[in-house]
Amino acid sequence: MGMIVRFPKFDYSDFKFYWSHNMAFSQDRNATAIIPSPVEPWLIKLLQEAAPLLPPSHTWLRDDTQKFIAQESQHFRQHRIFNKLIAESGFPRLAEMEAELAADLEEFSRTKSLKWRLAYADGFETLGAVSGMLWFEKSDEMIGGLDNAAIRLWKWHMAEEFEHREVCFQYFKAIYCRGLIGRIINGYFYRLYGLIFAIRHLRGFSSRAVAYMRQVEMERMSDDEKRQLRADIKTFERFNRRVFLKPLLANLLPWYDPGKKPVPRGLFNYLKKFEKDGEWSAGAKAA
Ligand SMILES: [Fe+2]
Ligand SMILES: [Fe+2]
Repeated sequence: MGMIVRFPKFDYSDFKFYWSHNMAFSQDRNATAIIPSPVEPWLIKLLQEAAPLLPPSHTWLRDDTQKFIAQESQHFRQHRIFNKLIAESGFPRLAEMEAELAADLEEFSRTKSLKWRLAYADGFETLGAVSGMLWFEKSDEMIGGLDNAAIRLWKWHMAEEFEHREVCFQYFKAIYCRGLIGRIINGYFYRLYGLIFAIRHLRGFSSRAVAYMRQVEMERMSDDEKRQLRADIKTFERFNRRVFLKPLLANLLPWYDPGKKPVPRGLFNYLKKFEKDGEWSAGAKAA
């Protein structure tokens, strides 16, 4: 797939909890950030366990696995830095929620089959691929004209999620969707079950984190700020239905193939800035 491993650098010196035009959008992403830091190390271990089961013909997928692991390693490390800043903005309970998610994943590793875990992983990964389009083509209402470290972090992360969107899908397909029956039962129904389970499970955590943030915020906001937050929530919910939930429906189709998703406009050009000698790369010299 020609994937690239990038080592970004983010400057949070002017970090603000509300880094977008819409408070509810910032809250939602700040809450969602508790997900990658436990899920992505778990994904890495999962693929390390599954790699020996790939058919010998899948050398390309083995090669992509190394890049996938290197990309995810950067993602969860960078998100841990970001999550610390969020928690320090007055939300210490987020760390507990993240630990609860890590405990659930540990339990999945002990009690669930590899097939189940790969279907769950594919479900999680497929959400990132939908987000790629959101961040690059449909996010003007939320971040148009803005540029800050939080936006760069999310755009970099979701662009790489888009780049490696088919790795888990291809794993599941190669190991569990052989033959006609395997393609129908596992390739469609079981994959769908994994997606729905992952959405419900992960959304449970991020919704709880959002509710917690809103409760804390409502206690310290002025009446005007509260009114603005309520208005932002309504705007964000409409936005989310239109640019995330509706496109997500395409993933429910039997012929869904993440590899065939069109590349969001400007995605790879944006990623260039994080590549060797790029202005936002950890290797770039200070100006
Ligand atoms: Fe990631
Ligand atoms: Fe990923």
